[in-house]
Amino acid sequence: MKKILIMAGDGIGPEIVAEAIKVLDVAKARFGLEIETDEALVGGAAYDASGDPLPEESLAKARAADAILFGSIGGPKWDNIERDKRPERGLLRLRSSLGLFANLRPAILFPQLADASSLKPEVVSGLDILIVRELTGGIYFGQPRGIREESGERVGFNTDVYSESEIRRIARVAFELAMARGKRLCSVDKANVLEVTELWKEIVTDMASEYPQVELSHMYVDNAAMQLVRAPKQFDVLVTGNLFGDILSDEAAMLTGSIGMLPSASLDEQRKGLYEPCHGSAPDIAGQGIANPLATILSLAMLLRYSLDRGDIATAIEQAVEKVLEDGLRTADIYTDGCRKVGTAEMGDAVAAALRA
Ligand code: IPM
Ligand code: MG
Repeated sequence: MKKILIMAGDGIGPEIVAEAIKVLDVAKARFGLEIETDEALVGGAAYDASGDPLPEESLAKARAADAILFGSIGGPKWDNIERDKRPERGLLRLRSSLGLFANLRPAILFPQLADASSLKPEVVSGLDILIVRELTGGIYFGQPRGIREESGERVGFNTDVYSESEIRRIARVAFELAMARGKRLCSVDKANVLEVTELWKEIVTDMASEYPQVELSHMYVDNAAMQLVRAPKQFDVLVTGNLFGDILSDEAAMLTGSIGMLPSASLDEQRKGLYEPCHGSAPDIAGQGIANPLATILSLAMLLRYSLDRGDIATAIEQAVEKVLEDGLRTADIYTDGCRKVGTAEMGDAVAAALRA
């Protein structure tokens, strides 16, 4: 029996994950899906309970699971504790310990939300792009890093580093995904300035011969940031390093109306994965029951598709989300005039009901 580990985390994490679990329960009943679920602490919640944002017990459960459904972590409460104990470090250690190097962040505009985007409907309608972000290397993990004293003042430093093999394995994932979609891949770098991305560009270019059907292009990250808001539909799949991917995926999220709509998958070589919404823990609205649970529900769909090979259930969940949007239900972040504003639980209930039908 497949095992799913639930890691709700901090802030709005527990609220949005609870809605995804409602949907999972309906999926189990309707599709006879047999899975076991367990829970584990992570982030600030884990730090409060044990002094560690990723306790050994949580990591062991994560290793034993086939897939992890993750909420969100962090908040002002933990901003000033020792750096290594901060909630974000728990998530980063989890990604790195499990080798979850391939981060898939699709930005798809549901037609019903064309008006919720800050861009004109004609610029975003029909948008379907996929950002493939390298997740366990680059400046997020490079050594040396730190803050040191130098000539009487403090100096902060990090290292952006990628080996050929790291570039090759993420590029391979991106080429394969491009093959299964629109067959266009744009590799994003800053090769005009940074040696690390000069190597990136060289390796990706070198691999293109293995995928003659894929049309490969390269773009500097500053230009990519601009093109994403100017004409986002020119893209199919984008592949980039950890930091650029972090930034560009938030930007791409807004094209879809709200970052509250964007799911993600972080996969290892065997497709074991951690699935989480792209948004953060939103401490400002935590506990108010107004957060949008759809990114987490859509992350559950990705979990079923990629780690459990149940694309059929994933599609049914995505259709249930679409139905609810079609019916005019909106959480505050995607609300536009004429729609019905609902809270977190009402949105989750509606998706669960649509899936049951
Ligand atoms: C994300 C988040 C994380 C990241 C933070 C919470 C560490 O912004 O998943 O995009 O920077 O990777
Ligand atoms: Mg981010």
